[in-house]
Amino acid sequence: MLARGLTRDTTVVALGGGITTDLAGFVAGTYLRGVPWIAVPTSLLAAVDAGIGGKVGVNTQAGKNVIGLFHRPLSVLIDVDLIATLPPHEVDNGLAEMVKHGAIADRAYLDALVSRAQRLRTLQPGALAPLIRRSVEIKAGVVAADPQESDYRQVLNAGHTIAHALELVSGLRINHGRAVAIGLSVEARMATLLGLLSATERDALIQTLTALSLPTMVPVDLDPADIVRATAIDKKARRGRPRYTLLARLGSVARGAEGFAREVDEKIALEAIEESRQGPE
Ligand SMILES: NC(=O)c1ccc[n+]([C@@H]2O[C@H](COP(=O)([O-])OP(=O)(O)OC[C@H]3O[C@@H](n4cnc5c(N)ncnc54)[C@H](O)[C@@H]3O)[C@@H](O)[C@H]2O)c1
Ligand SMILES: [Zn+2]
Repeated sequence: MLARGLTRDTTVVALGGGITTDLAGFVAGTYLRGVPWIAVPTSLLAAVDAGIGGKVGVNTQAGKNVIGLFHRPLSVLIDVDLIATLPPHEVDNGLAEMVKHGAIADRAYLDALVSRAQRLRTLQPGALAPLIRRSVEIKAGVVAADPQESDYRQVLNAGHTIAHALELVSGLRINHGRAVAIGLSVEARMATLLGLLSATERDALIQTLTALSLPTMVPVDLDPADIVRATAIDKKARRGRPRYTLLARLGSVARGAEGFAREVDEKIALEAIEESRQGPE
């Protein structure tokens, strides 16, 4: 951009998945101390999550989410026909965040996802359009209420404390979407163990994930104690103590004395992980 002599009247257009929208938004936010940008997300994850909310950045060897800034796009243009060519194994990533959005804000949305599971999996534009629209509304609503991530935005972190630990412990063998799906299921078990979420609603969430062909069990080859140790290195941890966003009901997050993210006794985390381990009876 410098070599081409682009001036302040430049607008950056990001056409691609979340890596592209994050990078292009970051370039736009820093070039000449900030020029406008427009997001055109082409992956399901970028459409429902990465392209929405104005958090942009670059991944470095120091990790994800270390270098970045808040720079909201002028607009986000989602063309569902662009998403149709996404490889099938990439669909999990978007789908898991869509389930998360329903779990934190809209129970009926979970039912809508399940009833269109097959058409979603095969990326049929007619099924995608209304479901992407609702996910965007949910995320954008949370972001608008808390643009600088002071507290309420923590609700978007549901399932993610365990998910990040699973990604770390598995050496990224478990992709983000599958880690989030397992994380939602483990953290729902934690919420039930703490008396926040009823067992019926916990099971309904796990069944929703299963109906969408997302995993809910922690692979047996991962050591539960290693997973718990890894939660302490999560970016949301404070003083090395991991924090969790837990559900009170399907469609609503429990608010505690510390806000929407809370510290949880390691024994509870361990018990929830043990409960969700796959393997012989
Ligand atoms: N800024 C945020 O708030 C936020 C939120 C969530 C995730 N993220 C970031 O988003 C990134 C992940 O995004 P992603 O899952 O889109 O990954 P990605 O950008 O790597 O895209 C996934 C793969 O799909 C390909 N692809 C994208 N669109 C396609 C299409 N229409 N047809 C065929 N192939 C297509 C890409 O080339 C890539 O190989 C991570 O870096 C993550 O940190 C950011
Ligand atoms: Zn995520």
